[in-house]
Amino acid sequence: MELNNKTILTGVKPTGTLHFGNYAGALKPAVELGHQVNREGGRHIMFVADYHAINAIKDAPLLKQLTREIACAYLACGLDPKTSYFYKQSDVPELFELTTILMAYTPKGFMNKAHAYKAAVDKNVAKGEPNDAGINMGLYTYPVLMAADILAYDTDLVPVGKDQIQHVEIAADIAGSINAHYGRQVFKLPRYFTTEATETVPGTDGRKMSKSYNNVIPLFADDATLKKAVMGIKTDCQDINAPKNPDEILLYQILRGIAPTALVAEVRAGLEKGGMGYGTIKKMLLQALIDEVGEKREKYMYYLTHFDEVEDMLHDGAIRARTLVQPVLERAKDAIFNRK
Ligand code: ADP
Ligand code: TRP
Repeated sequence: MELNNKTILTGVKPTGTLHFGNYAGALKPAVELGHQVNREGGRHIMFVADYHAINAIKDAPLLKQLTREIACAYLACGLDPKTSYFYKQSDVPELFELTTILMAYTPKGFMNKAHAYKAAVDKNVAKGEPNDAGINMGLYTYPVLMAADILAYDTDLVPVGKDQIQHVEIAADIAGSINAHYGRQVFKLPRYFTTEATETVPGTDGRKMSKSYNNVIPLFADDATLKKAVMGIKTDCQDINAPKNPDEILLYQILRGIAPTALVAEVRAGLEKGGMGYGTIKKMLLQALIDEVGEKREKYMYYLTHFDEVEDMLHDGAIRARTLVQPVLERAKDAIFNRK
């Protein structure tokens, strides 16, 4: 993909402590992409979507902690706050002004169809509760704030997991209808893209690794906790010497999502041939996890315990980000208030 002159933007919602699924599917590819974009002369924007999180998290100390963890995780994984734009959404007030503008051009029907809202309604229906029980307007209008996040920077590309595609499409639709209405390009139309890396890593019980299922291998835990999680991965009781189909074995599927290709190939061959026991593979997986995050874990702990340094980076990032947003907001106001 040609990234020269392109603006690539990703937001991360601080709603849970990170696990290896998040790492393989989101964190690692985002940081790598950031390096690539910056190298190739594009612009990379990476922010913590803390205002999106308040729809779900009302416990203030918890929100603070999760926000810090996400910021420190990105830095620990190598995000460069000097070359990328790295900030908290709540530090860029122009986004909320833009949200109000976009609201006026967002058909209510779009929000009825947005799947975060639909999923919440489905849950209520399943429990026999009124459709909108416990659903706040922040959740309902979630895609509009997300559209502001994206349109504010004339974003070209938004790397996302499959669940977020619809939101990027809504942002493009809103932008398109505003441009059509005023007969000029007020906003750039963003596009989403998904990568193979966002393939789902299973958790220790075989379902998608997710904080909601209590089946995670936590990302920055100590060795003993990692070991406990790895040893807890469900295995079957096939004979150790029997040749096996690796694609049917959970332990292999987890390894494939996380470990280096050479190790994945070695384990694949071992399973196909027979004779490689699950205990041995678990040890290999554990070592691979420690090798992958050992150094990052130290950096992560450093940043968490020196958060004032991170605070400065986020603060500088927000100042830089605001210089990008302000002209876009002015462009929108010129059109809607007929100023220019
Ligand atoms: P969770 O399922 O733990 O609640 P989120 O939905 O908050 O995780 O996901 C945050 C990011 O991490 C998303 O970009 C998502 O695509 C990625 N992600 C989450 N779980 C996995 C997984 N098991 N495999 C790959 N990527 C994942
Ligand atoms: N909705 C995204 C998520 O739940 C987070 C997010 C907020 C985002 N604003 C964004 C992602 C803008 C990409 C672009 O993961």
